[in-house]
Amino acid sequence: MLPLLVLAVLAAAAAQNDTQPPRPPAPRREQFRVIYEWNSIDYEWRSPEDRDAYLSTNRYIPQNVLISGINFYGENLFVTVPRMLDGVPATLATIPVQQSDTAPKLRPFPTWEANAAGNCSALQFVQNIEIDKNGIMWILDNGRVGTLTQNPDPKCAPSLVLIDLKTGKNEMERITFPADILNPNSTYLNDLVVDNRDGDYAYITDNSAVDPGIIVFRRSDKKSWKVRDSKSMLSSPDATAFRINGTSVNLPVNIDGIALGPQFLTADDQVDRTVYYCPLSSFHLYAINASVLRNEKLGSADGALRPYVVDVGTKASQTDGMKMDANGVLFYGLIGNSTIAEWNTTVDFHVGQRTIARDPNYIQWVDRFTFDDHGNVYVIVNRLYNFVKGHVNTNEVNYRILKSHTGSKSYVFAEDLKPANVPGAAAAPTLAASLLVLALAHLIA
Ligand SMILES: *[C@@H]1O[C@H](CO)[C@@H](O)[C@H](O)[C@H]1NC(C)=O
Ligand SMILES: *[C@@H]1O[C@H](CO)[C@@H](O)[C@H](O)[C@H]1NC(C)=O
Ligand SMILES: *[C@@H]1O[C@H](CO)[C@@H](O)[C@H](O)[C@H]1NC(C)=O
Ligand SMILES: *[C@@H]1O[C@H](CO)[C@@H](O)[C@H](O)[C@H]1NC(C)=O
Ligand SMILES: *[C@@H]1O[C@H](CO)[C@@H](O)[C@H](O)[C@H]1NC(C)=O
Ligand SMILES: *[C@@H]1O[C@H](CO)[C@@H](O)[C@H](O)[C@H]1NC(C)=O
Repeated sequence: MLPLLVLAVLAAAAAQNDTQPPRPPAPRREQFRVIYEWNSIDYEWRSPEDRDAYLSTNRYIPQNVLISGINFYGENLFVTVPRMLDGVPATLATIPVQQSDTAPKLRPFPTWEANAAGNCSALQFVQNIEIDKNGIMWILDNGRVGTLTQNPDPKCAPSLVLIDLKTGKNEMERITFPADILNPNSTYLNDLVVDNRDGDYAYITDNSAVDPGIIVFRRSDKKSWKVRDSKSMLSSPDATAFRINGTSVNLPVNIDGIALGPQFLTADDQVDRTVYYCPLSSFHLYAINASVLRNEKLGSADGALRPYVVDVGTKASQTDGMKMDANGVLFYGLIGNSTIAEWNTTVDFHVGQRTIARDPNYIQWVDRFTFDDHGNVYVIVNRLYNFVKGHVNTNEVNYRILKSHTGSKSYVFAEDLKPANVPGAAAAPTLAASLLVLALAHLIA
């Protein structure tokens, strides 16, 4: 049983400066609850013999299996298991629903075969996935495995793998990034947001130690380009030290978390969205308009992006993953403060940041967030600092999934906006909808 409640502190703790104008009222938030917790991650094996065979040949090394990313589709919860070390049997998995088990076993997704290590047509290294509003799963497959070992293996190329979940067939479409866009030896496909407009775009963070940037991918013609801005995308020397419940780790990690705001109309009636991002090792949150990223011309010249990058402000600590809801509220972790925070992006960042949960025992490295279809937000907490130090102790809880009701849903379901200068664009659906309501009212009467 997991009757554990994480202490929620509705306080203005996240912002550093407390002598600012009065803060807007805090939203009421349900407390976070632990729904699953694991000492080590195990799988649903094809047979007990299969598990033994994997164990005896070091293809399954329990302390090397860390859950990192999380997503929902319908009632299905997905988690990612990056192959940073050897002994990770499957890199993408689902957690079977209606589990009364508090440490459920992972079921490889789509199949065991599609997760076979060393087969470049199968999934090799998945750090994060996204599921868009059309039921397409976008999988970042870094290709290169063993990123925390002495000899990372770049045999398979970095790719984007798409699965149309609506069909139920789970067929994988693999789009390999050209080597002139991404160097397979150093690229690190970390996280992504999907923008379902004009042919579907993905904005992907590449936290390569040598060439960090944002990769823009357009699904309609499968074209990609990479944009760079060293000032906002490189780790910052003052933010490489992490301290979590007495453990210290030094990690210079570049651009990592990314989030996508709702659509807005510009002064000249164009629709745009704001993309937020931050290096892991930074106290700053940055923003850029999606229209800038979508301009292929900015994908070559270094420095071309600089005039368009906005430094939104500082956070109390470093952030790994973050996620926007459909109303423009950003959820993110503050690692050194054992905190989950939120920011309503319509309010100034300096006064608008809020702590929604803080607990040194249960919130040890917030990695990723997701929403389900029922207004709940989920958080993966994974003590990554122990993992990178090789200090995972399988006699204690290392991984948790927390859940809280927010009443909101993912940014992918944010409402569409049409430019006002398209005649009738906004009015027509409303009229149709009200006619439908009238018709229904008639039927019921
Ligand atoms: C590699 O993986 C693909 C995708 O799952 C599969 O179709 C193929 O049969 C596998 N190849 C080998 C040699 O196992
Ligand atoms: C990646 O590394 C291999 C082995 O060191 C080298 O042969 C190859 O040229 C490198 N690829 C790129 C794109 O740098
Ligand atoms: C995005 O564009 C809008 C309208 O053109 C502008 O007001 C805003 O400052 C831009 N945001 C960023 C992050 O550059
Ligand atoms: C938050 O964490 C940072 C280190 O990341 C630390 O310097 C700061 O004092 C912490 N703030 C609070 C309010 O705990
Ligand atoms: C965000 O803040 C604005 C301005 O205070 C408010 O109108 C809106 O309801 C807030 N949104 C949410 C989801 O809390
Ligand atoms: C946090 O640190 C305290 C003091 O060292 C220790 O007693 C406690 O077990 C730690 N909590 C976790 C969850 O590691």
